[in-house]
Amino acid sequence: MRYHHRLMTTPDYSALITELADEHRRRSPRSAAIHEQACRYLIDGGSHSIRLLEPFPPRVTEARGGWMVDEDGHRILDLWQGHMANVLGHNPEVVTAELSRAFADGFGTQSGLVDRLQAELAALVCRLTSSERVRFTTSGSLSTMYSVLMARSFTGRSTVMKAGGGWHGAQPMLLKGVAYRDDGVGFSGVDSKGLPSALTESIVVTGYNDPQNLADDFARVGDGLACLILEPMLGAGGTIAATTEYLRLARELCTRHGALLILDEMITGLRFHAGGLGALHGVTPDLAIYGKALGGGMPVAAVAGRADVMNEIARATGPRVAFSGGTYSAHPASMLAAKVFLEHLDAHSNEIYPRLGSLGATMRTAVETAFAEAGILARCTGAVDELNCGSSLVTVHFPHNETIALTTPEAVFDPASCDVALRQQVLGPALLIEDVHLVLAHGAASTTNTDEDVAFLGAACQKAAERIAAHR
Ligand SMILES: Cc1ncc(COP(=O)(O)O)c(C=O)c1O
Repeated sequence: MRYHHRLMTTPDYSALITELADEHRRRSPRSAAIHEQACRYLIDGGSHSIRLLEPFPPRVTEARGGWMVDEDGHRILDLWQGHMANVLGHNPEVVTAELSRAFADGFGTQSGLVDRLQAELAALVCRLTSSERVRFTTSGSLSTMYSVLMARSFTGRSTVMKAGGGWHGAQPMLLKGVAYRDDGVGFSGVDSKGLPSALTESIVVTGYNDPQNLADDFARVGDGLACLILEPMLGAGGTIAATTEYLRLARELCTRHGALLILDEMITGLRFHAGGLGALHGVTPDLAIYGKALGGGMPVAAVAGRADVMNEIARATGPRVAFSGGTYSAHPASMLAAKVFLEHLDAHSNEIYPRLGSLGATMRTAVETAFAEAGILARCTGAVDELNCGSSLVTVHFPHNETIALTTPEAVFDPASCDVALRQQVLGPALLIEDVHLVLAHGAASTTNTDEDVAFLGAACQKAAERIAAHR
C-alpha cells in the first residue's frame, strides 16, 4: 500500500473539526440541547473531562453489551466500554441478574456496615492476584494514593518514581509527567495547578520502556526511593506495552535499592487473564492496584500485595498510614457485583480471554486496513507482542511513516513522529458521526462483540478516513 500523506507536520484540521461539529449538531439535537442545559450547572457540562467530547457528548439512555443508544436514537458501537472497565460489555447479565435479586430481597444499599461478601471477595482477589492482603476503595485514584503513603511509611523514604505518560488518577502524589509538552518539557511537567512544590519535587519521572534511563535514575536516586509505580501497559500514555526486560529490570532495581515496586493494574488487571499482567511477565510487585474490570460495572478498586507492607495500615501498628476514609468503601452492591463477576471470569477464563484476544486483533487490523485504503497510515497499539496472550485493547495512532516504533509514549505524543491532532481531536468526532464511540482514540473489545461489529467498525473507519483524506 502506498501512503500518499507522508506528512511530518500536523495539517490544519480546523475546517474539518468545524464541519464535524456542525454535522454532529444537526444529527443530535437532543444531546445538544441537554448539553446546553447541563453547562448551566456543570462545568463543561459533565463530571469527567475526557468524556466530554467536543462540542458535546452523546447523552446515553441505554447500553447493552457492545452497543449504546443516545437521546437522539442513534445506536452506537461503544468501544470506550465503561472507560475500559467492561470486559463482558455493558450490563453483563451475570452481574445484573444477581444485583436485581439482591435489591428485590432488600440487600444492596445498606452501607457503612461490614458483611460476609467483603471477606469472600478479598479471598478471591488475593488468590487471583497472588496477593497476601487487600483493601477495597471506590477508585483507582484513592488506591494509588494510599499505595504511595504505604510505600513511604514502610521504607521511611519520601521520593517516588513514576514513568512519563503514566496516569495513576487525579491524586496529588503522582500528578507529574502525565501530559506531554512539545516545547521541550516532554513528560517532566507538573500536571495540575494547586500542588505544593515540596510534593512535586518528590516525584521523579523516568522514561517508560527505557532500561538505560531507569538504571541511571536508580543510580541517582534509588537509595532514597520509597517506590516505583508503573503500569504494565501504559493506558492514557498511548496503550504501550512494557517489555518484559523493562519490567524485570524495574523489579530487580527496586529490590536492590530497597524501594517498593507498585504495579498499577487498573486497565490491565483481569483484562489479559483472570489476574494481573505483571504475572504474565513473571514480575511480582510489592503492591498492586486493581479496579475498573474488578467491579463488573460497579465502583470498586483495591490495593493488594505483601502483608508486611499492607500492615502499615493495621491497627496493631499504630496505624501509621491513615487508610481509613471512604463512606462507600466496600459498598455491598459493589462487593456483590465484583464477587460474581470475578467468579465468572475465573470459571470461564478459557473461553473469555482467547475470545477477547481474537476480537482485539481483528479490530486492530480492521482499523489499520480501512485507513490504508484511504491512503492514511494508521497503527493500533494494544497487543503485547512478547507474550502469548491476546489483547482486547485498541488505540489508534497515525505515525508519519512506517519506521516509527510505537514503543514509548514519546513516540506517540511527539507531533514530529505521529499526527497527534488527528488522533486526539479528529478521530473521535469523525467516528461518532459513523456511530462508533472511542475516547481519545482508545477502545477495547468486549466478549459481546461479533464479527459484524468488527465489520461495522471497519466500514465506519473507512468513511471517516475518506472524509479526513479529503481535508489533508
Ligand atoms: C492506570 C490507571 N490508574 C489509575 C486510574 C484512576 O482510576 P479512577 O479513575 O478509578 O480514579 C486510572 C483511570 O483511568 C488508570 O487508567
